[in-house]
Amino acid sequence: MDTLFAPHSPKKRDLVSLLDVQTEEIHRLFARAVELKAAQKAREVIHTLKGRTLAMVFEKPSTRTRVSFEVGMYQLGGYALFLSSKDIQLGRGEPLSDSAQVLSRFVDGIMVRTFAHANVVTMARNATVPVINALSDDFHPCQILADIFTYQEHRGPIAGRKVAWVGDGNNVAQSWILAAARLGFHLVLASPANYGPDPSLVEWAQKEMAVWGGQGSLTLLRHPRDAVAGADLVTTDAWTSMGQEKEQKRRSRAFAHYCVDAALMREAQKDALFMHCLPAHRGEEVTAEVLDGPQSVVWDEAENRLHVQKAVLEWLMG
Ligand code: CP
Ligand code: NVA
Repeated sequence: MDTLFAPHSPKKRDLVSLLDVQTEEIHRLFARAVELKAAQKAREVIHTLKGRTLAMVFEKPSTRTRVSFEVGMYQLGGYALFLSSKDIQLGRGEPLSDSAQVLSRFVDGIMVRTFAHANVVTMARNATVPVINALSDDFHPCQILADIFTYQEHRGPIAGRKVAWVGDGNNVAQSWILAAARLGFHLVLASPANYGPDPSLVEWAQKEMAVWGGQGSLTLLRHPRDAVAGADLVTTDAWTSMGQEKEQKRRSRAFAHYCVDAALMREAQKDALFMHCLPAHRGEEVTAEVLDGPQSVVWDEAENRLHVQKAVLEWLMG
């Protein structure tokens, strides 16, 4: 986690984590995403990235992230290259730092989905073009920007609201923590022992929130019902993330009581929303009744990856 707080590239903008984007910038990105979404619905052509190219390096699988970035670049008049690490020299051991420098000579931006968060930092430090984290073991900033945009689209400002996270303190949960520090909402996480978020991140976020005068808060609990009580938004994710497949059995046992079902949703506000970054596992972290039910906004959440990331691409590469 040391890599989180170390500066990575002072000479250019990146989106390695939500620490790279200030509160006001997030609001501007959301305002632009509203415009881009409306324009796309009206089939209006907006070619702000004409002639620009994005390299998309994937060391893990993806549906939403790949398609939303690729389609987003196309819609903005640019081009995106899908580069699976299996097919490029990175997968044969070419150093990330060399790959970053070489790609920078060809493209205007690099998006990377990888394992260790330090890999994204290495990419950002060595690239001379903006680098976007499209998920690392520690963070998934693009997801959380789309999630908060979706919340606000349905319910208005998230500041002061209560968000409950049920389950693993993983990359998505840790991005929610950074977002709570940036946007001043109350985040309560319920995770089993030994599956909470990184303690150094929690400590940083709690200090950061204190500086802000207690507008946002971060609370770690054990029991899902305590976390969900009175929440405006309930969210969860897979018990086993990409790269943890060997731990699946152990994780299934540890998370057995961390399923978001209708009874748990009744503990939240009556008009609470349910979100999941997807892919979801019905009957594990969420029941089909909740995922496919009236409080769920998971399809809007997935779609908004496109609109919000187009705003991010313009911000970094425009
Ligand atoms: N939520 C998300 O990032 O999905 P993909 O793994 O399909 O990109
Ligand atoms: N936590 C999940 C998110 C998938 C989008 C994973 O890292 O696999």
